[in-house]
Amino acid sequence: MKKQTLLLFPILLIAIFLYGFKKFVIDEQKTHLATNLDIRVEQKVDSVLALMHLNEKIGQLVQYSGKWNATGPSSSNGDQHKLNKLKNGEVGSMLNITSVESTRETQKIVMENSRLKIPLIFGYDVIHGYKTIFPIPLGESASWDLDIIKKTASIAAKEAAASGIQWTFAPMIDVSRDARWGRIMEGAGEDTYLNAVIGVARVQGFQGDDLSKSNTIAACAKHFAGYGFAEAGRDYNTVNIGEYELHNAILPPFKAAAEAGVATFMNSFNEIDGIPSTGNKMLQRDILKGDWGWNGFVVSDWGSIGELIAHGYAKDKKQAAEIALNAGSDMDMESYAYEAHLETLLKEKKISLAQLDDAVKRILRLKFNLGLFDDPYKYCDEAREKNNVYTKEHLAIARDAAKKSIVLLKNETKLLPFSKNLKSIAVIGPLADDKDAPLGNWRAKGEYNSSMSLLEGVKSAVGNNTKIYYEKGGDLTMPTIKPGDNQFLYPLRFNTTDVSGIPAAVEAAKKGEVVLLAIGEDAFQTGEGRSQTNIGFFGVQQQLLEAVYKVNKNVVIVLMNGRPMDISWAANNVPTILECWFLGSESGNAMADVLFGDYNPSGKLPVSFPHNVGQEPLYYNQKNTGRPYSPSHVTYSGYTDAPKTALYPFGFGLSYTTFEYKNLKLDKNTISKTEEIKLSVEVSNTGTRDGEEVVQLYIRDLVGSLTRPVKELKGFQKTMIKAGETKTIYFAVNADMLQFYTINKKWEVELGDFNVWVGGDSNAPLKASFSVTE
Ligand code: NOJ
Repeated sequence: MKKQTLLLFPILLIAIFLYGFKKFVIDEQKTHLATNLDIRVEQKVDSVLALMHLNEKIGQLVQYSGKWNATGPSSSNGDQHKLNKLKNGEVGSMLNITSVESTRETQKIVMENSRLKIPLIFGYDVIHGYKTIFPIPLGESASWDLDIIKKTASIAAKEAAASGIQWTFAPMIDVSRDARWGRIMEGAGEDTYLNAVIGVARVQGFQGDDLSKSNTIAACAKHFAGYGFAEAGRDYNTVNIGEYELHNAILPPFKAAAEAGVATFMNSFNEIDGIPSTGNKMLQRDILKGDWGWNGFVVSDWGSIGELIAHGYAKDKKQAAEIALNAGSDMDMESYAYEAHLETLLKEKKISLAQLDDAVKRILRLKFNLGLFDDPYKYCDEAREKNNVYTKEHLAIARDAAKKSIVLLKNETKLLPFSKNLKSIAVIGPLADDKDAPLGNWRAKGEYNSSMSLLEGVKSAVGNNTKIYYEKGGDLTMPTIKPGDNQFLYPLRFNTTDVSGIPAAVEAAKKGEVVLLAIGEDAFQTGEGRSQTNIGFFGVQQQLLEAVYKVNKNVVIVLMNGRPMDISWAANNVPTILECWFLGSESGNAMADVLFGDYNPSGKLPVSFPHNVGQEPLYYNQKNTGRPYSPSHVTYSGYTDAPKTALYPFGFGLSYTTFEYKNLKLDKNTISKTEEIKLSVEVSNTGTRDGEEVVQLYIRDLVGSLTRPVKELKGFQKTMIKAGETKTIYFAVNADMLQFYTINKKWEVELGDFNVWVGGDSNAPLKASFSVTE
């Protein structure tokens, strides 16, 4: 650092402090700032804002992506432009720069050259782990275990923060009901309530109780809003939903995240009913910053301000910048629209200084809260980077999260759990010894081929007396992506027809006392831009499955996938199926934990599995319609060639033990809007093993000012019940569970009759009724 710069920084800090202190004394009496605003931070923000020139203000709203060269930016035009902007203090944030060395080098450019030395904030997609990789979010959501979800987010934050990152673009809390949509892997599935509680757990995990700690990072609730409702499951596609559906089905997880103090939001690529989200004032200004009183900042999605042009919503970038800023998009990720046009737009009075200042303040606020003004290099600690990333302790947590995410879909012949004294096991399939696919998409710094494969997990679980026969049997259709490959440029589909590996697999299957058949999807069949119309097995996997099953009925299908798949043949024919998603770094060990009974599976599906792709979008909390399906009217609101219901419903998952539900009781059957009902139910473990059950509560409002879904998840409790034990589980049924966004455009409880169900999945049979009266 130059001597001069070293001197200037403390002077700026002292000025900020004195200004803040003076204002604090003056304003002390009359302060009534919106909740959760810290008056001292606000004063510091104001004091910096007062010093800023227009170009510096606009600069705070600019975010660039850097494949930054640690020893300095490369000389390409783009990078040169970025370098100059950084030096002038005209960039607020960078994404995709990782490692202490690279972030420090980049931060130094700003701190040593710019006039005001406002530190950069470094963002990155830390979606399910940084280097220690946890199950993909959809898989981890199957744990319904908020503690472990919070824990893995906190470890991801700790590793990212130790590597120079202060901000993750997660959690994705888009309700997604369509298995064709590739990004379904990135959220908590089809249910609004589940997305809300899991989203909050992830926010709390990333942000901890104090953003200024050096092991926590800012979270980002995304994508605001409706992204998961893309028509036909095609990524980025148009969304057509009504205002009430938006409020009732899509917005609640975002509201919950805002209330939990999520630092940032990201808007979405899609339009809703003709208005692209990036230009949607109603969403960003009126609802988020207005009604919800949220004080963080909104970052655009990548290039989404510029994409207003392709949407046909802006004629050029200048107009796009105007629309986006007016709509409340605070930071421009990679559109280069704000830096180019905000100054002119201000002169032309097409945007206001007040709005610009508001956006700048929101960004500065977070930088203060993160402690970056105190020490811009506080996340640049080589020792922490060396010692806090990919540790044994983190891997142990990854294993714990992974085993809790596994869902036992079928165990008809009680083949599972295996004894560890089996004489032989055939481990077969394109994914059986794949050390990369289990890392899933969005694997941040997860190293290529660094996961524990199923084969490795099985080998380390059994003794020397068990003979293992491994055969790959065939390839998956996707070429494997190697480090440095740009997955967006990758050739999409190679449908392999090569069956030459099948005979050897059949021979191995014949030799095995049992067979583990690892099939499913490649990691990159789901994720951004990875939508598919075929959600069955690609390539020769179906042939492999049938050939193997023909010679050995003791087959366990070990599924690895990022979406609900069409597994109907397998479900109809093979007695044992284990859903293993993409489980992350410790995949093989976690699978072995469940296969050999060291852990009794407790996962439940966060998405419905269809009989075939034609049922998509498929979700349990549908509307009844005027002609509801019934066994006597199978053609009503259904299909003539397929069932209407799911193959495996939302909330479903088996255990090595069995649970019985009885004595559902309500302490009253009539309440007023402000009263609550105490609901109790007895759950017995009727098997011979201890096990955890996810007790789920569903409610239906029978008649409303708007039609209501046939049932909706409103609460759950995951609880351990010992073999032979009966536990009484209690829920408080209250206004929070009964209200919805009504015809009055308000969240209200309406008078009338309600049904409530409790059980182990969304088909919960135990039912009671109650009324809400004046
Ligand atoms: C585009 C994705 O939609 C978004 O989720 C992600 O955070 C950004 N790219 C940044 O990588």
